[in-house]
Amino acid sequence: MDLTHVEDDLELDQTLFTEEQIVSRLKEMAADIERDYEGKDILLVGVLKGAVMVMADLARSLDRHVEMDWMAVSSYGSGTKSSGVVRILKDLDTDLQGRHVLIVEDIIDTGLTLSWLITNLRSRGPASVEIATLLRKPEAQQMEVEVKYVGFDIPNAFVVGYGLDYNEQYRNLRCIGTLSPHVYS
Ligand code: XMP
Ligand code: MG
Repeated sequence: MDLTHVEDDLELDQTLFTEEQIVSRLKEMAADIERDYEGKDILLVGVLKGAVMVMADLARSLDRHVEMDWMAVSSYGSGTKSSGVVRILKDLDTDLQGRHVLIVEDIIDTGLTLSWLITNLRSRGPASVEIATLLRKPEAQQMEVEVKYVGFDIPNAFVVGYGLDYNEQYRNLRCIGTLSPHVYS
């Protein structure tokens, strides 16, 4: 299977973003982040597992030292919809007291998971908490919390690749594509 272009993979519908487009957008986001955090130490907090690829490329696009830590959360809900009821599966190793926290996400859909996460992290006494996400779906724009860095706004379709999965598959695709409806219907 060719993991660079999804057209060759029968279960994928179309490529939304190529690896080149993703990496170049992350470089632009990194430049914004560097400018905004001048003179401040950043703690990048990645949300497992989807944000692994975004974290790797965003962190390496930053021309400065950063710390990285990880959280794993599970949002109770059925199938592809999240409910906003969240459970911590793996907590941070880092004390957030006085830290500038930048949450790194792959995708924001309803924003329920992230709203919960922000409230949780803010209760730990950080100097600031902001969000960087590669993708944002339309519903997320109704979110009360501001998302400071957004890579791409996408239509309301289920997407996979570059860390995003369907039943734990497709995370290692280099591009991001839409899944053929026949796969999940
Ligand atoms: P909420 O709705 O709380 O959920 O913002 C965000 C989480 O839902 C998952 N999600 C997706 N995963 N393709 C995926 O692989 C998608 O199109 C998609 N939409 C939502 C994802 O885990 C994200 O963190
Ligand atoms: Mg996620």
